[in-house]
Amino acid sequence: MTRTDPTDVPRPDARLHFGVFFQGVNHWTIWSDPSSGSQIDPASFLRVARTAERGLFDAFFLGDGLRLRESEGGIHELDVAGRPDSITQLSALAAATERIGLVSTSNTTFNEPGDLARRLAGLDLLSEGRAGWNVVTTHNAWTGENFRRGGFLDHADRYRRAEEFLAVARAVWNGWAEDSVAGSVEARSWSVPGAVGRVRSRGAQFDVDLTPTLPRSAQGHPVIFQAGDSGDGREFGARNADVIFSAHGTDFDDALAFAEDIRRRLRAAGRAEDALRILPGTEIVIGATEKEAEEKARWVRLSQVTPAVALGIASRLWGIDLSGRDADGPLPAEDPVVARDKGTFGTRWVEDPREVVARWRAKAGANGWSLREAVIELGPQQRGHVGTPAGLAEKFARFVRHGAVDGFNVTPYLVPDGLDDIVELLVPELQERGVYRTSYTGTTLREHLELAPAV
Ligand SMILES: Cc1cc2nc3c(=O)[nH]c(=O)nc-3n(C[C@H](O)[C@H](O)[C@H](O)COP(=O)(O)O)c2cc1C
Repeated sequence: MTRTDPTDVPRPDARLHFGVFFQGVNHWTIWSDPSSGSQIDPASFLRVARTAERGLFDAFFLGDGLRLRESEGGIHELDVAGRPDSITQLSALAAATERIGLVSTSNTTFNEPGDLARRLAGLDLLSEGRAGWNVVTTHNAWTGENFRRGGFLDHADRYRRAEEFLAVARAVWNGWAEDSVAGSVEARSWSVPGAVGRVRSRGAQFDVDLTPTLPRSAQGHPVIFQAGDSGDGREFGARNADVIFSAHGTDFDDALAFAEDIRRRLRAAGRAEDALRILPGTEIVIGATEKEAEEKARWVRLSQVTPAVALGIASRLWGIDLSGRDADGPLPAEDPVVARDKGTFGTRWVEDPREVVARWRAKAGANGWSLREAVIELGPQQRGHVGTPAGLAEKFARFVRHGAVDGFNVTPYLVPDGLDDIVELLVPELQERGVYRTSYTGTTLREHLELAPAV
């Protein structure tokens, strides 16, 4: 294999950062395999976190879903259902791990800033500076029904609220000055007198008057992640985030275009180009040879998109109950039903189904695909990289040294064993090429990510 010359690249010293995205919901985690463990059993997520820590990952990352996905008026039974509250789950991990960062996705639409900032600061203190917060605005009006608010804000207002939310959260975290704990028996009070500020903030969304209850952590305050791909989302990330969790990490040109777009927005926001890290989500399938890796990837796809999953996805696209059809047969002859309201939540197609179906028919016809194959090739896909440890290491070195990514948030397709071959086979190849750390050099998540100190 020819190696890229590490001096002939824009960022010769760049290192990859890995997070693990423990999904807990949807069919991409193969729950039907005999080796699969429960997503909720602490033994499962502890094993994943400890494997990631052994592999010197920066972070263990949890998504946020406050309502189960629904389809045809019932819960979406093909998903791995349910996940504990992320801050609660990460607190359990804080006690059982030593170095790895712990990132909670928590939305700004259905929380209050004083309360969430305090809970995240608690996680940051209990983990000794390892907490992160993935700020999302949550696009689903149906999630709001859990809170008797429905879709109370449109897209732009959700981002305005997120901006105000984050400003209040930062004020709460910065309410205690550095070295604000007196900490000696001679001191007249536990905190240095005058060191605890009060937060008063009145804006369009919040009216807050509080005294922050917690001092700063070892990393100051939680690291800010952002996920959301619209123009508003990218602007919000460029202004505020330390890390962007993107969906642009499979194709090199697409990843580079995304990174360059973010760098443009960073400059416009008056921030340095290297002020944040870009970590796309990705699946990684490893084999001893390219052929073996491809065969394994095929097995992964067929295990993820079972006949029932294929029919479920197709039913939602067509707007017709296709559960009795043959997934390995041709695409349904019917036209999709466009206007329908059967209580399909979190699983709805965004594009016009007639256009999608026309595209599927053309592609399936040209390639001789069954319905299931069409779903595998064209349906909502888990995007990823497939190859040998050495081949993947070369590829990832190229991505990071050209500034297309700063690393990946890896989604294991098997829990709890799905990271084992990444840690045992891929990490050593990356280390050998000088694009991956050989030990943790810091103790906080901010240090792992090579970020500037918190302000
Ligand atoms: C890679 C990625 C992961 C996301 N994960 C979550 C999540 O776990 N929970 C959630 O409520 N929203 C999640 N979102 C949704 C966004 O945060 C945001 O709420 C929504 O996409 C609307 O923003 P946008 O239009 O800017 O994409 C994710 C988005 C992306 C791109």
